[in-house]
Amino acid sequence: MTRVEDTLGRPLRNLRISVTDRCNLRCQYCMPEEEYAWLPRAEILHFGEIAALVDVFTGLGVDKVRLTGGEPLLRRELPRLVRMLAAKPALRDLAVTTNGLLLAEQASALREAGLHRVTVSLDTLRPDRFAALTRRASHAQVLEGIAAVPRAGFAGTKLDTVVIRGLNDDELADLVEFAKAVPAELRFIEYMDVGGATRWSPDQVVSRREMLELLERRYGRIEPIVDDGPAPADRYRLPDGTVFGIISSTTQPFCARCDRSRLTADGTWYLCLYATAGVDLRGPFRAGAGPEALTALITGRWRGRTDRGAEERLALRDRAPLLQVAQLRADPRLEMHTRGG
Ligand code: GTP
Ligand code: 5AD
Ligand code: SF4
Repeated sequence: MTRVEDTLGRPLRNLRISVTDRCNLRCQYCMPEEEYAWLPRAEILHFGEIAALVDVFTGLGVDKVRLTGGEPLLRRELPRLVRMLAAKPALRDLAVTTNGLLLAEQASALREAGLHRVTVSLDTLRPDRFAALTRRASHAQVLEGIAAVPRAGFAGTKLDTVVIRGLNDDELADLVEFAKAVPAELRFIEYMDVGGATRWSPDQVVSRREMLELLERRYGRIEPIVDDGPAPADRYRLPDGTVFGIISSTTQPFCARCDRSRLTADGTWYLCLYATAGVDLRGPFRAGAGPEALTALITGRWRGRTDRGAEERLALRDRAPLLQVAQLRADPRLEMHTRGG
């Protein structure tokens, strides 16, 4: 295996693969519009193509793969892809990020196929808020999905909560208690001004500092857990030992340690969540490029990587949504839901 590093010395280790751009929810912070342009069906990578590309990436140091969407469980026969990827010894970690709607029916099949871990998005414990946030009345189904995860034998489960002022910032402690009972580790995520978040505004962002203050009021002293690894979450311990995380991509980004890249369902490879251009891997692959040519293409691009999208956003004086609806319509790959969250 040849390891590659970018211009800032960051290795290529973590690959997020979006298996579909479709979603069965319409979260306000991700898909607030009425209409979306979808990727053409013929351009969606087949499982064999995904598996072959993963082999090229593992040859360059990738050992963590996360399947994302849209909503990944909407992709037909997802367990079949999981089985193909789980058979690769180079993958130390194989996980899925899902909104949970289809988990009750699929958790066991995913586990049997060899999936290692599941992360479920859960922004609120209140069905009425869930319906307002996602425009679907399926909160109970998500809770059933979460309950199915430990039952199917998964450990290392995480719950992700995007915190938005005035929407769910009064539920932080309730969510911590809920996660403890699952059991799962809760991560609070700062609302990000990514593509797709067309209604984003700075006043809706609850910063990491503020979240910690809110939680300390309820729990007392919160102790940071020191770890300088590449994971996006900073982790903390409550006085009773409960551990939770905060992903502060908006106010304190982790770009300096970012070892992740993402592949959209149509095989476009993005070196940063905020990147406006990606590298077409489907074209060369379908034109017959073999592992060596693809390795050379990926290596060259990673070596030239300078991206630090979230840090650049932080440096802006007047922060507003990253992209306008017209830009997103013209290139749906700019959408967070196409890029895999
Ligand atoms: P593990 O740490 O391996 O469990 O996975 P993860 O935290 O990468 O996965 P998850 O899908 O749960 O990601 C959590 C959240 O972190 C995402 O939903 C985004 O809000 C944020 N995030 C993920 N990738 C990036 C990235 O490349 N840049 C930034 N700034 N934020 C990201
Ligand atoms: N800000 C922060 N996180 C977001 N996600 C999607 N849009 C945003 C945003 N604007 C993340 C959430 C969700 C995952 C699929 O994508 O964590 O759980
Ligand atoms: Fe919500 Fe995820 Fe669907 Fe976006 S992709 S609308 S965050 S469930």
